[in-house]
Amino acid sequence: MGHVFVMDHPLIQHKVSMLRSKDTGSKEFRELVEEIAMLMCYEATRDLPLEEIEVETPVAKAKAKALAGKKLGIVPILRAGLGMVDGMLNLVPAAKVGHIGLYRDPETLEPVEYYCKLPYDAPERDIYVLDPMLATGGSASAAIQFIKDKGVQRIRFLCLIAAPEGIERLNKDHPDVDIYVAALDERLNDHGYIVPGLGDAGDRLFGTK
Ligand code: PRP
Ligand code: URA
Repeated sequence: MGHVFVMDHPLIQHKVSMLRSKDTGSKEFRELVEEIAMLMCYEATRDLPLEEIEVETPVAKAKAKALAGKKLGIVPILRAGLGMVDGMLNLVPAAKVGHIGLYRDPETLEPVEYYCKLPYDAPERDIYVLDPMLATGGSASAAIQFIKDKGVQRIRFLCLIAAPEGIERLNKDHPDVDIYVAALDERLNDHGYIVPGLGDAGDRLFGTK
């Protein structure tokens, strides 16, 4: 089964609380999502392998460390996942960015795909899938399946707020995928919204409510 890492760093927790408030407007909401994504990226890349290299400082040769292993890719689930991209790229600027377009049918809550474009060398990369909300888990599960179908082997999923139902679904469908979450909430309501959650992440990011 995939691991679930709850990122309980105080800065992340504080910023998530600000994000939840209905009084937080789109500008601040966008800034917070980017900042939290950056902090989560820092935590979720802790286990990246390093190799020893030699660098020449102005004073002497030094043995130093550099990232080794596979290159990284990030794949936001459109739309709301877009809000997390810059936070990741701030720390991993060489990552390539793919996009998966999915929206959740408001009646059936099933994900509907409308776009998929991944880096040509995605199978050679470790892929971080981004979406602020993991509710039923349908969107994340479908996105991860598309990415696996393109030959990617190592996938992690980063989200800001998750419902237990989404975690369970993702663990069942993709037990090989580790989940990084800033907050684990209580439940879903009858409309598939996370309670207490933060409302509709896409609408709050882009001001489309
Ligand atoms: C939201 C969210 C996830 C999905 C989560 O997207 O960003 O992608 O719902 O729900 P699920 O776990 O039940 O699938 P939405 O469908 O509202 O599209 P948007 O990002 O374009 O607003
Ligand atoms: N998508 C959102 O944006 N918010 C929720 O609470 C559930 C799905």
